[in-house]
Amino acid sequence: MSENGSAQTEAAVAQSNGAASADSPLVDMINIHKYFGSVQALRGLDFRVNRQEIVGLLGDNGAGKSTLIKVLTGFHTPTRGQIFFDGDEVEIDSPTRARELGIETVYQDLALVPLMSIARNFWLGQEPTYQIGPLKFLDQKLMEESTIDALADVGIHIRTADETVGTMSGGERQSIAIGRAVYFGKRLLILDEPTSALSVGETQKVLDYTFAAKDKGMSVIFITHNISQVHEVADRFTIIEHGRKLGDFTKDEVSQQEVANMIVSGVVPERLRLFDEDGKKENA
Ligand SMILES: Nc1ncnc2c1ncn2[C@@H]1O[C@H](COP(=O)(O)OP(=O)(O)OP(=O)(O)O)[C@@H](O)[C@H]1O
Ligand SMILES: [Mg+2]
Repeated sequence: MSENGSAQTEAAVAQSNGAASADSPLVDMINIHKYFGSVQALRGLDFRVNRQEIVGLLGDNGAGKSTLIKVLTGFHTPTRGQIFFDGDEVEIDSPTRARELGIETVYQDLALVPLMSIARNFWLGQEPTYQIGPLKFLDQKLMEESTIDALADVGIHIRTADETVGTMSGGERQSIAIGRAVYFGKRLLILDEPTSALSVGETQKVLDYTFAAKDKGMSVIFITHNISQVHEVADRFTIIEHGRKLGDFTKDEVSQQEVANMIVSGVVPERLRLFDEDGKKENA
């Protein structure tokens, strides 16, 4: 896996050398606040994702992980703060805008539409149509064939795309949702707790899709409570606590155990602490 990783990094560097904003991160969220009435879900959080990087976003229940990615995907408007994407400041005021930027998300709490077929779910919001005279029709045949092919592209094999999603298992649905996001995503894939309902085999597939997205040149934000999974896939970890960032750590500087301890205790090990102009940071 690591050989693969370094080859990809070189490819990313080569690719980005030509781009105008190559030095900037893909995503740079600065001083993000999000209040829901008196609940301060995010309190001045900075969050960065580099190009072709898999970031594990970690923190205890209620830390603000889902809220942070919902701000990035246009689901919530931040109370305060700036978002830069690809070097430019952006206002992501709707999920459609996020998708236009190349961001695809599999949400923790928004599944597929159970009563619709796999194909309809796959193409939801961007259905191909054909026109006869003044009338527009959904191109069912194209949707079904292309869904089978597109899912096969990312390693998911289904016999038919006209089956209703409601009859599928949790793991199968999650596979379709992720396959869809990997297929349509151009720049950034966000997975919020993608494996919480999955078996061991299904989980391994999700980890494979995560690498597939990186191979495609995408960056990935991977949210999970399972430290060993995220340690396997992520290049870097961002740990948040009560709406603030506890720290950023690259995989080679922290062990799985240290990451787990930081999430529970909120304390950064002495050797990893950063200093700022005023002396020690809050967590030091
Ligand atoms: N729509 C909302 N309205 C009011 N409060 C909210 C809303 N969404 C989130 N919160 C609150 O914001 C805080 C952060 O929630 P969030 O869902 O972002 O946490 P999380 O880190 O994703 O947790 P989990 O690991 O349990 O998914 C919590 O206190 C939560 O109750
Ligand atoms: Mg959450």
